[in-house]
Amino acid sequence: MRRAVCPGSFDPVTNGHVDIISRASRLFDEVVVAVGVNKSKSRARLFSAEERMAMLTDVCADFPNVTVAGFEGLLTTFCAERGIDAIVKGLRAVTDFDYELQMAQMNASLTEVETVFVPCAPEYSFLASSLVKEVATFGGDVSALVPPHVWTLLTERLAERAREDQQG
Ligand code: PNS
Repeated sequence: MRRAVCPGSFDPVTNGHVDIISRASRLFDEVVVAVGVNKSKSRARLFSAEERMAMLTDVCADFPNVTVAGFEGLLTTFCAERGIDAIVKGLRAVTDFDYELQMAQMNASLTEVETVFVPCAPEYSFLASSLVKEVATFGGDVSALVPPHVWTLLTERLAERAREDQQG
Protein backbone atom coordinates (compact mmCIF):
# COMPACT_ATOMS: atom_id res chain seq x y z
CA MET A 1 0.00 0.00 0.00
CA ARG A 2 1.57 3.27 -1.13
CA ARG A 3 0.38 6.31 0.83
CA ALA A 4 1.14 9.92 -0.01
CA VAL A 5 0.33 13.28 1.47
CA CYS A 6 -0.53 16.47 -0.42
CA PRO A 7 0.18 19.17 2.19
CA GLY A 8 -0.66 22.85 2.01
CA SER A 9 -2.45 25.81 3.47
CA PHE A 10 -5.22 25.75 0.85
CA ASP A 11 -6.50 29.24 1.74
CA PRO A 12 -8.43 28.63 -0.45
CA VAL A 13 -7.98 25.50 -2.60
CA THR A 14 -7.44 26.40 -6.27
CA ASN A 15 -7.87 24.45 -9.50
CA GLY A 16 -4.08 24.06 -9.52
CA HIS A 17 -4.25 22.21 -6.17
CA VAL A 18 -7.09 20.02 -7.47
CA ASP A 19 -4.99 19.08 -10.49
CA ILE A 20 -2.06 17.97 -8.30
CA ILE A 21 -4.36 16.06 -5.88
CA SER A 22 -6.07 14.32 -8.80
CA ARG A 23 -2.73 13.27 -10.31
CA ALA A 24 -1.40 12.10 -6.93
CA SER A 25 -4.55 9.97 -6.56
CA ARG A 26 -3.59 8.16 -9.76
CA LEU A 27 0.02 7.59 -8.64
CA PHE A 28 -0.67 6.33 -5.09
CA ASP A 29 -3.09 3.88 -3.47
CA GLU A 30 -4.11 6.38 -0.80
CA VAL A 31 -3.68 10.14 -0.65
CA VAL A 32 -4.21 12.33 2.40
CA VAL A 33 -4.69 16.02 1.74
CA ALA A 34 -3.14 17.57 4.84
CA VAL A 35 -4.26 21.07 5.74
CA GLY A 36 -1.70 22.98 7.80
CA VAL A 37 -3.39 24.45 10.86
CA ASN A 38 -0.34 25.91 12.60
CA LYS A 39 -1.66 28.65 14.87
CA SER A 40 1.15 31.13 14.17
CA LYS A 41 -0.34 31.94 10.77
CA SER A 42 -4.02 31.59 11.65
CA ARG A 43 -4.72 35.35 11.89
CA ALA A 44 -3.55 35.93 8.34
CA ARG A 45 -5.91 33.31 6.92
CA LEU A 46 -9.11 34.18 5.06
CA PHE A 47 -10.69 30.83 5.97
CA SER A 48 -10.45 28.88 9.23
CA ALA A 49 -8.88 25.42 9.29
CA GLU A 50 -12.37 23.86 9.53
CA GLU A 51 -13.59 25.86 6.53
CA ARG A 52 -10.54 24.94 4.45
CA MET A 53 -10.96 21.26 5.32
CA ALA A 54 -14.68 21.35 4.49
CA MET A 55 -13.93 22.94 1.09
CA LEU A 56 -11.33 20.26 0.33
CA THR A 57 -13.64 17.45 1.45
CA ASP A 58 -16.25 18.77 -0.97
CA VAL A 59 -13.76 19.21 -3.81
CA CYS A 60 -12.15 15.75 -3.31
CA ALA A 61 -15.46 13.85 -3.08
CA ASP A 62 -14.94 12.48 -6.61
CA PHE A 63 -11.60 10.87 -5.71
CA PRO A 64 -12.36 7.64 -3.79
CA ASN A 65 -8.80 7.15 -2.48
CA VAL A 66 -8.39 10.72 -1.18
CA THR A 67 -9.13 11.85 2.38
CA VAL A 68 -8.66 15.20 4.09
CA ALA A 69 -7.07 15.84 7.49
CA GLY A 70 -5.70 18.77 9.47
CA PHE A 71 -2.19 18.75 10.84
CA GLU A 72 -0.31 20.85 13.33
CA GLY A 73 3.44 20.77 13.89
CA LEU A 74 5.88 18.99 11.62
CA LEU A 75 4.71 17.38 8.41
CA THR A 76 7.21 14.55 8.93
CA THR A 77 5.57 13.70 12.28
CA PHE A 78 2.16 13.57 10.59
CA CYS A 79 3.61 11.24 7.91
CA ALA A 80 5.28 8.96 10.46
CA GLU A 81 2.09 8.67 12.53
CA ARG A 82 0.06 7.67 9.47
CA GLY A 83 2.55 5.41 7.68
CA ILE A 84 2.86 7.88 4.81
CA ASP A 85 6.10 7.51 2.84
CA ALA A 86 5.78 10.21 0.18
CA ILE A 87 5.05 13.93 0.09
CA VAL A 88 3.63 15.15 -3.23
CA LYS A 89 4.34 18.77 -4.17
CA GLY A 90 3.37 20.60 -7.33
CA LEU A 91 6.02 22.77 -8.99
CA ARG A 92 4.72 25.76 -10.91
CA ALA A 93 8.00 27.19 -12.12
CA VAL A 94 11.69 27.12 -11.37
CA THR A 95 11.09 29.81 -8.75
CA ASP A 96 9.26 27.22 -6.63
CA PHE A 97 12.13 24.81 -6.86
CA ASP A 98 14.68 26.40 -4.48
CA TYR A 99 12.36 26.46 -1.49
CA GLU A 100 10.70 23.14 -2.28
CA LEU A 101 14.10 21.44 -2.63
CA GLN A 102 15.19 22.89 0.71
CA MET A 103 12.01 21.61 2.40
CA ALA A 104 12.31 18.20 0.71
CA GLN A 105 15.89 17.81 1.91
CA MET A 106 15.05 19.00 5.43
CA ASN A 107 12.12 16.58 5.61
CA ALA A 108 14.29 13.72 4.30
CA SER A 109 16.88 14.50 6.96
CA LEU A 110 14.26 14.25 9.71
CA THR A 111 12.75 10.95 8.56
CA GLU A 112 13.08 8.84 5.45
CA VAL A 113 10.06 10.41 3.76
CA GLU A 114 10.48 10.98 0.01
CA THR A 115 9.23 14.08 -1.78
CA VAL A 116 7.77 13.60 -5.25
CA PHE A 117 7.61 16.73 -7.39
CA VAL A 118 4.83 16.92 -9.95
CA PRO A 119 5.08 19.62 -12.63
CA CYS A 120 1.88 21.60 -12.63
CA ALA A 121 -0.22 21.83 -15.76
CA PRO A 122 0.87 24.89 -17.80
CA GLU A 123 -2.55 26.52 -17.50
CA TYR A 124 -2.02 26.73 -13.71
CA SER A 125 1.60 27.88 -13.64
CA PHE A 126 0.66 31.40 -12.48
CA LEU A 127 -1.93 30.27 -9.95
CA ALA A 128 -1.50 30.87 -6.20
CA SER A 129 -4.08 31.17 -3.42
CA SER A 130 -2.55 34.49 -2.36
CA LEU A 131 -2.98 35.99 -5.85
CA VAL A 132 -6.52 34.62 -6.16
CA LYS A 133 -7.42 36.41 -2.90
CA GLU A 134 -5.75 39.65 -3.95
CA VAL A 135 -7.37 39.73 -7.39
CA ALA A 136 -10.80 38.82 -5.99
CA THR A 137 -10.48 41.46 -3.24
CA PHE A 138 -10.15 44.16 -5.90
CA GLY A 139 -13.01 42.87 -8.01
CA GLY A 140 -11.13 40.70 -10.54
CA ASP A 141 -12.83 37.62 -11.94
CA VAL A 142 -11.25 34.47 -10.47
CA SER A 143 -14.21 32.19 -11.21
CA ALA A 144 -12.15 30.08 -13.65
CA LEU A 145 -9.34 29.59 -11.14
CA VAL A 146 -11.10 27.91 -8.21
CA PRO A 147 -13.86 25.26 -7.95
CA PRO A 148 -17.37 26.80 -8.26
CA HIS A 149 -18.33 26.18 -4.61
CA VAL A 150 -15.05 27.73 -3.44
CA TRP A 151 -15.70 30.78 -5.65
CA THR A 152 -19.09 31.26 -3.95
CA LEU A 153 -17.55 30.99 -0.46
CA LEU A 154 -14.66 33.29 -1.43
CA THR A 155 -17.01 35.94 -2.80
CA GLU A 156 -19.17 35.78 0.34
CA ARG A 157 -16.18 35.97 2.70
CA LEU A 158 -14.63 38.94 0.89
CA ALA A 159 -17.98 40.75 0.97
CA GLU A 160 -18.17 40.09 4.75
CA ARG A 161 -14.63 41.42 5.20
CA ALA A 162 -15.43 44.53 3.13
CA ARG A 163 -18.52 45.20 5.30
CA GLU A 164 -16.44 44.75 8.48
CA ASP A 165 -13.80 47.16 7.15
CA GLN A 166 -16.46 49.78 6.33
CA GLN A 167 -17.87 49.51 9.86
CA GLY A 168 -14.35 50.04 11.22
O1 PNS B 1 0.47 25.93 0.87
P1 PNS B 1 1.76 26.24 1.56
O2 PNS B 1 1.60 27.44 2.48
O3 PNS B 1 2.91 26.37 0.61
O4 PNS B 1 2.06 24.97 2.51
C1 PNS B 1 3.24 24.91 3.24
C2 PNS B 1 3.25 23.65 4.15
C3 PNS B 1 2.05 23.64 5.09
C4 PNS B 1 3.24 22.42 3.28
C5 PNS B 1 4.58 23.75 4.93
O5 PNS B 1 4.68 25.01 5.52
C6 PNS B 1 4.72 22.68 5.98
O6 PNS B 1 5.04 21.55 5.65
N1 PNS B 1 4.46 23.05 7.24
C7 PNS B 1 4.50 22.15 8.37
C8 PNS B 1 5.65 22.49 9.32
C9 PNS B 1 6.90 21.77 8.89
O7 PNS B 1 6.97 20.57 8.79
N2 PNS B 1 7.94 22.59 8.63
C10 PNS B 1 9.21 22.12 8.18
C11 PNS B 1 9.27 22.10 6.65
S1 PNS B 1 10.85 21.58 6.08
